[in-house]
Amino acid sequence: MNRLRIMTLALIIVTGMVALPAVASECMKCHSSPIFKVKHKSLYDYFVEFRDSVHGIAGLDCSDCHGGDTQATDPEMAHVGVRDRVRYDRIPETCGECHENQKVAFCTSDHYRILEDTGTAPNCVTCHGAMEMDFIFAGRVKNTCAFCHNMESGNNPEIPDRADYILSKINIIKGYRSFVETNGKDRELVADLAHSYEELSAKWHRFDLTSVAQDTKELLGQYRSAKAQAVKDKRKN
Ligand code: HEC
Ligand code: HEC
Ligand code: HEC
Ligand code: HEC
Ligand code: HEC
Repeated sequence: MNRLRIMTLALIIVTGMVALPAVASECMKCHSSPIFKVKHKSLYDYFVEFRDSVHGIAGLDCSDCHGGDTQATDPEMAHVGVRDRVRYDRIPETCGECHENQKVAFCTSDHYRILEDTGTAPNCVTCHGAMEMDFIFAGRVKNTCAFCHNMESGNNPEIPDRADYILSKINIIKGYRSFVETNGKDRELVADLAHSYEELSAKWHRFDLTSVAQDTKELLGQYRSAKAQAVKDKRKN
C-alpha cells in the first residue's frame, strides 16, 4: 500500500481529523454498482456494510485492507491477492498498518500467541467485525467474550462480566471526556488526559484485565476532577 496514504490515515486516527479524499479506485466503482443488488445480493450487502462503517465514512478504499490492483477494470486482474491479507492469521498485521498501538499491544497477549499456534483465539475481526466494523461497549462486550469464555468451555468464564464492568467505567469516562473537551480551560490537561485515554484503549489489547482495571480507575478519578474544574470554569464565564 501507498506509504503516504498510510501516513495520512494514521494522522486522521491520531487527530480525529475529517475524512480522507476518496481515491478513484475501480474497486469502489465496480463494487458499488446497483446491478449487484439483483445479480449478487451478498456482494452488494458487503459493500453497503462497508460504506456505512467508520472506515467507509473515513474514506478508506477496499484496497486499503485487501490490496489488489485498484486501476484494473477486469475483475480477475483486480483481484490478485485480495483474499490473502484478510486471512485470519494475517488480519492483525493488516489492521495494524493503521492501528499500530493496538497491534503492538495485541501481539503481547495470550490471544495472539494462541491465534498463531492453533487459530482458536480471537483476531481483530472476531471482536470488531470486518466490513461492518463495530464499536465495542459495555453490554455488547459480554457476548463478544462469552463466545469463548463460558461455563461450557471452562475457559475463564468470569471474563465477560469483568470486561463488562470495566467498559461500563470507560463509558463514564467517555461522558466526562466530551464535557471536559468542550468546556475545560486547561488545554494542556485536556490533551494529556486524551492521550492517556488513547493509551488505555490500546492497552486493552494485551488483555491483562487486572492492569486495565487499575488504569481505568485512575483515569476515571482524573477525569472526575477535571470535570469538576471544568464546571467551575464554565460558571465563571
Ligand atoms: C469490474 C468489477 C470489479 C472490480 C474492478 C473489482 N471487483 Fe471485486 N468482485 C467483483 C465481483 C463480480 C465479485 C464476485 C465474483 C467474483 O469472485 O469474481 C468480486 C469479489 C471480490 C471479493 C471477494 C473475494 C472472492 O474471491 O470472492 C473481494 C475481497 C473483492 N472483490 C475485492 C476487490 C478489490 C480490493 C478490488 C480492487 C483492487 C476489486 N474487488 C475490484 C467485481 C469487481
Ligand atoms: C478495514 C479493512 C477492510 C476494508 C476497507 C474492506 N474490507 Fe473486505 N474484508 C475485510 C476482512 C478482514 C475480511 C475477512 C472477514 C472475515 O474473515 O470474517 C473481508 C472480507 C470481504 C469479503 C468476503 C470474502 C470472502 O471470502 O467471503 C468481500 C466480498 C469483501 N471483503 C469485499 C470488500 C470490498 C468490495 C471492499 C470495499 C468496498 C472491502 N471489502 C473493504 C476487511 C476489509
Ligand atoms: C488504511 C488504514 C486503516 C486500516 C488498514 C484499518 N483501519 Fe480501522 N480506522 C482507520 C481510520 C482512518 C478510522 C477512523 C478514525 C476516526 O474516525 O477517529 C478507523 C477506525 C477504526 C475503529 C473505530 C475506532 C475509532 O477510534 O473510531 C475500529 C474499531 C477499527 N478502525 C478497527 C480496525 C480493524 C479491526 C481493522 C482491520 C480489519 C482496521 N481497523 C483496518 C484506518 C484504518
Ligand atoms: C478480544 C476482543 C478484541 C480483539 C481481538 C481486538 N480488540 Fe480492539 N478493542 C477491544 C476492546 C474491549 C476495546 C476497548 C474499547 C474501549 O476502550 O472503549 C477495543 C478498542 C479498539 C479500538 C479503539 C476503539 C475506540 O472506541 O476508541 C481500535 C481502533 C481497535 N480496538 C482495533 C483493534 C485491532 C487493530 C485489533 C487487532 C490487532 C483489535 N482491536 C483486536 C476488543 C478487541
Ligand atoms: C475466539 C475465542 C475467544 C474470544 C472471542 C475471546 N477470548 Fe480471551 N482467550 C481465548 C483463549 C483460547 C485464551 C487462552 C486461555 C488459556 O490460556 O488456556 C484466552 C485468554 C484470555 C485471557 C487470559 C486469561 C488468563 O488469565 O490466563 C484474558 C484476560 C482474555 N482472554 C480476555 C478476553 C476478553 C476481555 C474477551 C472479549 C473482549 C475475550 N477474551 C474474547 C479465546 C477467546
